[in-house]
Amino acid sequence: MEQCSISEFPAQEGKTVTIKGWVANRRSSGKVSFLIIRDGSGICQGVVTKQDLGDVYNEVKKLPLESSVIATGTVVQETKAPGGYEMQIQALDIVHKADEFPIGKKEHGPDFLLSHRHLWVRSARQAAILRVRDALIRNIREYFYNNGFTLVDTPIFTTTYGEDSTNLFSVDYFDLGKVYLAQTGQLYLEATLPALGKVYCLGPTFRAELSKTRRHLTEFWMAEAEVAFCDHKENLALQEDFVSYIVQKTIKEKASELVYLERDTMQLEKTTPPFHRISYDEAISLLRKKGSDIQWGADLGGDDETIITKLFDKPVFIENYPKKTKAFYMKQDPDRPECVLCADLLAPEGYGEIIGGSQREDNYDVLLNTIKDNQLDPDRYKWYLDLRQYGSVPHSGFGLGIERCVAWICGLKHVREAIPFPRMIYRAYP
Ligand code: 4AD
Ligand code: MG
Repeated sequence: MEQCSISEFPAQEGKTVTIKGWVANRRSSGKVSFLIIRDGSGICQGVVTKQDLGDVYNEVKKLPLESSVIATGTVVQETKAPGGYEMQIQALDIVHKADEFPIGKKEHGPDFLLSHRHLWVRSARQAAILRVRDALIRNIREYFYNNGFTLVDTPIFTTTYGEDSTNLFSVDYFDLGKVYLAQTGQLYLEATLPALGKVYCLGPTFRAELSKTRRHLTEFWMAEAEVAFCDHKENLALQEDFVSYIVQKTIKEKASELVYLERDTMQLEKTTPPFHRISYDEAISLLRKKGSDIQWGADLGGDDETIITKLFDKPVFIENYPKKTKAFYMKQDPDRPECVLCADLLAPEGYGEIIGGSQREDNYDVLLNTIKDNQLDPDRYKWYLDLRQYGSVPHSGFGLGIERCVAWICGLKHVREAIPFPRMIYRAYP
């Protein structure tokens, strides 16, 4: 019998085919049982009768959820059935009879679900989110490919830190002492610019973040881009174009998953250039008008970001932060040395920062001084400083947090659902 996947059912109507999958749901009424079968490509309703199956029917009637099966039957269109098709099952092979599945219909708390993440991923909601993530990452790669970027895979073991000394993970590395898990691939992307011009990386990054918030993971994925001969303004234009492309394409491709997630995509559809731009100074005065006592010079916290994003209907850049709130590599604003040429991009509806980006310091002496001012060891950054000695050019780039972007697109309350197996301060299992 021809094997097919459930997603191929529209082309198989009226034919007899074999599918292989898991029992997502079951209900019986007398001599008929309905098995909802999931095979990873889709779901269908299998109709099983005692007449067709004989003795096997009695086992099917009590078949535990998540048992694995091979079913052969005729494909029939049935608009009322989940997935739109039904299979009149003529033969059913039980591959494995499952134990009682721990995740049932009743409400489970987040801790229970996270401890059973290896089983929780089977739920339709979680699978829908993982499919949106897959589409988003594919569209990110496609954007870079279409726009002349070259992929550079940057190292995970690093001897310098990229962002911040307070949240490093270190690893014992043979006779070389401690190395750090990469917080960013950016510094290595910068090194490849003179060879490749426009580059990107997309991989896991690590931060020992003590922030226990709905926006923080200790292991998260980041897409980072770096462009030679690109200034701060051009960097913002690139980000606008990039974010609009990946959001529009993903919501179109994954429309049915977003319907399942009950995500109202009206706001997402407004993600088109130009985005709003406000300065850090304006952000501070907006927050103070809203009753915050934040002072100029302080970094914006998650709650501050939430307040600001609610004032705008599409993403908003906050530009030119005070130098002391940001990483050492950002270019000093020539007109205001206490600020840097950078922007954070905040997603609307309270989602907050999804991108951090900046023009990079390309002057050897200024960079060396900032490295020293940040109490970093210039010897460790020798290779990075070298880049300012052999054909230094103005250059800029940015990093998009994959989970934050998935959370925004899917309308999730917490980034932990946006990654297959989340790592947080109190969780590294399963
Ligand atoms: O703003 P960040 O720290 O910027 C960088 O790492 C730069 N090197 C990027 C670059 O210019 N190439 O991080 C970038 C993005 C944030 O905007 C956020 O979306 C995400 O990474 N991010 C996190 N996501 C989940 N959990 C965390 N702990 C995150 N920290 C940052
Ligand atoms: Mg940031």
